[in-house]
Amino acid sequence: MLDYDLEAAHYDQTRGGVARARAAAGAVLELMPGDCAALVDVACGTGIVTELLTAPGRTVIGVDMSAGMLALARPRLAGRGTAVRGDATRLPVASRSVDAVTFMWLLHLVDEPVVAAAITEAARVLRPGGVMVTTVDKNSAQFETAGDVRDILRAARRELAPPPSDGMELVRDLATAAGLEPAGTAGYLGHGQGRSPREWARRVREEIPWTRRADPRRVAEICDALEALPEQDARRVDPEYRLAAFRLGG
Ligand SMILES: C[S@@+](CC[C@H](N)C(=O)[O-])C[C@H]1O[C@@H](n2cnc3c(N)ncnc32)[C@H](O)[C@@H]1O
Repeated sequence: MLDYDLEAAHYDQTRGGVARARAAAGAVLELMPGDCAALVDVACGTGIVTELLTAPGRTVIGVDMSAGMLALARPRLAGRGTAVRGDATRLPVASRSVDAVTFMWLLHLVDEPVVAAAITEAARVLRPGGVMVTTVDKNSAQFETAGDVRDILRAARRELAPPPSDGMELVRDLATAAGLEPAGTAGYLGHGQGRSPREWARRVREEIPWTRRADPRRVAEICDALEALPEQDARRVDPEYRLAAFRLGG
């Protein structure tokens, strides 16, 4: 995982800024109970999405492990919510005390036991009828929208990447085991997240975990294919991210 303390200073501007946050929050609100009085945004980061989930009369708590990200979230939420340091698997929140738990861009970053523990923890803090909303299949979204980069990377990902920790089926199974039932899906545009072929080639060489573990000759082939595409510096279309909601029965 990235060091989010270091990432904090340029996180918002490199993740689509307010346009991405608005789209994400809009999709969360579609899935949240309309009368939600208390919400925990787990892995709230800089709070750029969290602040858009606040509303008069609603208690909003952002939780994150990174002090650097929280330093940006706190002033953003001042007067409308709180931001506290904590782990998704041990939320500093009482049992059965909130109507919604959100995981925006968290579950793809952690391994399966942490995903399972985080979902169990969400079920613990939700009131009956409360909803957990999470991004699913986050990293495959980049490779779903038709295009030349997509054609190269989707095939490479299928060949080289391990199953995602935020795959829809896995999340559904873990949610069901925790007593949460499917309660709808929504999508949102990842503004500013479309990348150019040159940028993808750099990421394939330097950043993507499954290419860093791959045979260097295969990685070179993938990069050659990306670098042979036209318009090397033109960003390709923004991906569409998916959210899934799960409701606690009772
Ligand atoms: C990609 S950022 C997402 C931030 C925010 N949700 C957003 O959509 O802008 C991932 C965040 O997860 C936090 N994080 C990672 N593992 C965590 C854990 N186990 N518990 C709480 N936060 C965690 C990181 O510190 C980082 O701020």
